[in-house]
Amino acid sequence: MLMTALAPVSRAAETRPWMNSKSSPDRRADMVVAAMTLDEMISMLHGIMPLSLPIKGLPQISFPKDAVPGAGYVAGVDRLGIPALRETDASLGVTNPFGVRKGDVATALPAGLALSATFNPVLAYKAGALVGLEAWSKGFNVLLSGGMNLARDPRNGRNFEYLGEDPLLAGTMAGEEVRGTQDQHVISTVKHFAINSNETNRQTLNARIARSAARESDLLAFEIAIERGRPGAVMCSYNKVNGAYACGNAWLLNTVLKHDWGYPGWVMSDWGAVHGTDYALRGLDQESGDQLDKKVWFGAALKNAVERGMVPIARIRDMAHRILRSMFAVGVIDHPPVKSSIDYTSHAATALEIARQGIVLLKNDRSLLPIGPGIQRVAVIGGLANLGVLSGGGSSQVIPSNGEVTKIPVGGRGMMAAFRVQYFDPSSPLSAIQSAFPKARIDYDSGTFPADAAALAAHCDVAIVFVTRHELEGYDIPNLQLPQGQDELIDAVATSNHNTIVVLETGNPVTMPWLDKVPAVLAAWYPGQEGGQAIADILSGKINPSGHLPITFPRSEADTVRPTLPNLGLEETDDAAIDYTEGADVGYRWYARNHHVPLFAFGHGLSYTKFTYYNLRVSADSTLRIAFSIRNIGARPGADVPQVYLTSAAGSPLLRLIGFQRVNLQPGESRSVAVVVDPRLLGKFDEASKRWIVSAGTYKVSLRKSANDSVANGAAYLKALSIPEGAHH
Ligand code: BGC
Repeated sequence: MLMTALAPVSRAAETRPWMNSKSSPDRRADMVVAAMTLDEMISMLHGIMPLSLPIKGLPQISFPKDAVPGAGYVAGVDRLGIPALRETDASLGVTNPFGVRKGDVATALPAGLALSATFNPVLAYKAGALVGLEAWSKGFNVLLSGGMNLARDPRNGRNFEYLGEDPLLAGTMAGEEVRGTQDQHVISTVKHFAINSNETNRQTLNARIARSAARESDLLAFEIAIERGRPGAVMCSYNKVNGAYACGNAWLLNTVLKHDWGYPGWVMSDWGAVHGTDYALRGLDQESGDQLDKKVWFGAALKNAVERGMVPIARIRDMAHRILRSMFAVGVIDHPPVKSSIDYTSHAATALEIARQGIVLLKNDRSLLPIGPGIQRVAVIGGLANLGVLSGGGSSQVIPSNGEVTKIPVGGRGMMAAFRVQYFDPSSPLSAIQSAFPKARIDYDSGTFPADAAALAAHCDVAIVFVTRHELEGYDIPNLQLPQGQDELIDAVATSNHNTIVVLETGNPVTMPWLDKVPAVLAAWYPGQEGGQAIADILSGKINPSGHLPITFPRSEADTVRPTLPNLGLEETDDAAIDYTEGADVGYRWYARNHHVPLFAFGHGLSYTKFTYYNLRVSADSTLRIAFSIRNIGARPGADVPQVYLTSAAGSPLLRLIGFQRVNLQPGESRSVAVVVDPRLLGKFDEASKRWIVSAGTYKVSLRKSANDSVANGAAYLKALSIPEGAHH
């Protein structure tokens, strides 16, 4: 019996020795490559988008039976037992573009900004694992997740998908998401590599930035994420970086990623981001969604280039090797996806948990919140709060698992016009508030007419105004205002009721001309399919808020690096450029350098309890070491995120987050926290020697509640350090 059962396995091991999971991923990939024909290798280097896209001028393609309709499909090599790559978007849940898989839903997580606002890497892992498992259970083996471009511009239409403006925070959270996903045997990307910081004219945009500045900011974020998460693939972006398209940018791909960081996985293009066969020589390994490019560059054209000696065969082997070694390393060959049922109930609980931890209480004068159980009359106003909560648009849009979405097709121009549809996830804040206060009279007003809303608010104990701003891939927002008269609505309501609470559902910071009149403000981001519940939980005090801003809220656009949105009004195909003159000083670093006091600082977030920090100690050996204690001195259990910033490096003033820790504490409970600082955060990158240089001198450290709220200071003397790039990998 035993012999018969084992026979096929050992035969496979003889004829397909790469199936032996005891060999290393590199060894296994080498063996497959040695057995492959040129055509077989080429077939792995490009793939289609298995979808009929409602985009004008695109060829309508038919796709193979074994493709799962969605974002991507790359044929496998049956003869050798190598499966196809079945790729899906992405970070906020498994997508189902245009409902192509009839009736297929998924858990719709809160925005990436909400996740990073938790400052909770454990939750990032859990989010990545959840989406990875759902992808696997639907037959996918690649998740196009790990969106993590730094928020250089608070008008970037995709910031909601990403993880904020700080490289340590974004890199840590993305790395944990990737780890979570890949532990489900689904390859994750990190994307979009790199400096894909604006959506306006993203296909032509030339992002100009000093190389060392890029290394100290966006690239450092990717570097940290790659070290932590070891993603199987990196997705290069649409834009140019210093003149060369990112997917054909030898400096980015060959020099930084593969040479300096020793990255062993593969580089896949964004969809429609390839402009030539020679990109193979510049570091691109695979062309994705090839019907979106002018021509299939990595198919017959690449084969031809090999045959004419323009691209060495060794490079083709390297490309195939990189893909295969990631497939073996993550286990997509040893543990192929099995279509299986998904426990949406427990996954909804995770979506709720992220929203609860990621909603940020920005302001709470007179301790207006939480609303006491004895409240009698409440006005709930605006934001379609009777129906649900808004989500961000584009390729990351998820069809939620918990009911019917309200879709509002808003229409408009541009390549991504088909995505200009507002999706309200079916978690009505109004119903959740009604359940939280069963004895109160709750009236809803749509907010269409500020005068009606204000008249209702005048009769109520509190007025809760929900405001929304739809943001989506392919478009930046032109400014930070709330659209469609919502500022006037808030103003009118706050004038008639001094207990007005504003709940923001946006994908970026907003300006708040009404702030002086409004005692309480919550940033709920796009809170995901359980968002209405999470908002009500925080309003009622069932949950103590603990989110902290991963992105600065400036006072006005005038305080930002570029007061007006660059390239606004250009035709989408026109050439465009942005000089990212802030360099590595993204977000709070730039506001600090220019002495702009923000409306709400990076790292800010209030709680219903109080925390005290004490006993700060700063010491130095080969890096800085920081220790301190934190105690909950209030009456409620809660979580806080103490943050450690560098405020001066060997005599140069600056501001950099160098450590953070989310801590849960019962009333009266205390905890000690230790931080060992990544030395790259202390120094500067020297492009000539490719080293991180930390000058000898005194390093000043500040323990803070936000980038602008210092509790205690310390310092230590550090000896000079010179660390070669890639030493951490
Ligand atoms: C987006 C990527 C996405 C891809 C596939 C592109 O438009 O930029 O983030 O993964 O489409 O849907």
